[in-house]
Amino acid sequence: MVTRLDPRLAEPLESRLNTEGFERPLALQETIPEDLVPLLELAHRPVISARQFSREQLIQICRLASQYETQPGRNRRPLTGKILISAFYEPSTRTRLSFESAWHRLGGDIMSITDAATTGIAKGESLYDVAEMLNHYGDLVVLRDSNGQAVYEMLDALRIPIVNAGNGVDEHPTQALADMYAIFKWRPQLLDPEVCAKAPIRIGVIGVPGRMRTVRSLLLFLRLIAKGIKEVVLITDDEQPFSEGQREELEKAGLSLRAATDLDAELPNLDVVYINAIAWVGDSFESHGSRYRLSKASPFKPGAIVLHPLARGPELATDLDDTPHNWYFAQARGAVYIRMALLSCILKTYA
Ligand code: CP
Repeated sequence: MVTRLDPRLAEPLESRLNTEGFERPLALQETIPEDLVPLLELAHRPVISARQFSREQLIQICRLASQYETQPGRNRRPLTGKILISAFYEPSTRTRLSFESAWHRLGGDIMSITDAATTGIAKGESLYDVAEMLNHYGDLVVLRDSNGQAVYEMLDALRIPIVNAGNGVDEHPTQALADMYAIFKWRPQLLDPEVCAKAPIRIGVIGVPGRMRTVRSLLLFLRLIAKGIKEVVLITDDEQPFSEGQREELEKAGLSLRAATDLDAELPNLDVVYINAIAWVGDSFESHGSRYRLSKASPFKPGAIVLHPLARGPELATDLDDTPHNWYFAQARGAVYIRMALLSCILKTYA
C-alpha cells in the first residue's frame, strides 16, 4: 500500500517535455527557398521506394515538414472528409501511430487494420481483391507487410494512392524521410553546395543494408546529397552486407562507401551515427551486429548525432538519452511532420 504521494504526481508534465523548440526547423526553412513545383509530381502517386524521389522533392518535403512543425496554426484540417486506410500486417509503434497522428492533425478520419487475420486474407482472399475493395472505402492506403511483394500486389488493383510503411526487408521510405529531416535540421548547411564542398560530413551506418529496409531506403536518400558526404562508413561484421547490385547502384550515384568492423575506431571521426540491429523477416526478426553497442562512454566526435529508427534493443544504451548525441527522439518526433508533408503532397492539400 502506498502511504505517500509519489513525487512524479506533483511534477508538471511540461517540465519533462524533450522538445527541441522551433529554432532548428526554422533554420532549415530559412536555408531552403520555397519551391512547390517539384512537389506537384507527387500528387496522386503511390510511394513505395526512396528511389522515386528527386533531390528537390526530398528537400521541399523537408521544408514543408518544418512549416508544419513550426506553425501549428497552418493545420487548417485540409483532409476533412478524407479517409485513411491504415493497414499494418506487422507490428509497429512509430510508423502506424505517426501516420495516424499526421492524418488526424490534417483533419482526416481513419480506418485501421492491425491484424490481417481479421480480414478476408485469413480466408485466402488475395491482396489484389482486398485492394479492389479499398478503392471504394478510403482515399489513401498506408501498408506495412512482411511480404515485400504485398505492396506491389495491391498497387496492381488500386486507384487510390498507397504508401509503403515497410515491405519485408525491401524498403521503408517514409522512415528514411524522417531520418533525412532530422539530418537536415541538424545541419541545414548540407543543402548549401559551397559549404558541402568545404566541409563534407562522414556518416557511420551500423547495420546490414542488404537485410534492413530502413538502411536500404536511407542509403538511397543519402545518394541524393552525396556531394555533402565525405564517406559512408558501413560498420558490420556481416561478410556480405549488400544485396545484389546495391553497392554498385549507390557508388554509381556518387556515394563513397567503405566497410569497417571496429566501431570504436571509427566513432571519433563520424558526424552522424545511424544504428539499427534488427531486420523483420516473415513473422519474426533477425538480430544483426550484436557486438556493436553505443553508450554514453562511446568515443563520439564532439557534436556527433545518433539516429536510430527504433525500437531500441541493447545496441543503444538508455544512458545516451540525456546526452546531446540523442537525436533519435527528435527523429521519431519529426516523423509526424514529415508524414504530414508527404500526405499533403500526395493529396495536394499543402497550398
Ligand atoms: N521505425 C519504425 O519503423 O518503427 P515501428 O516498427 O515502431 O513502426
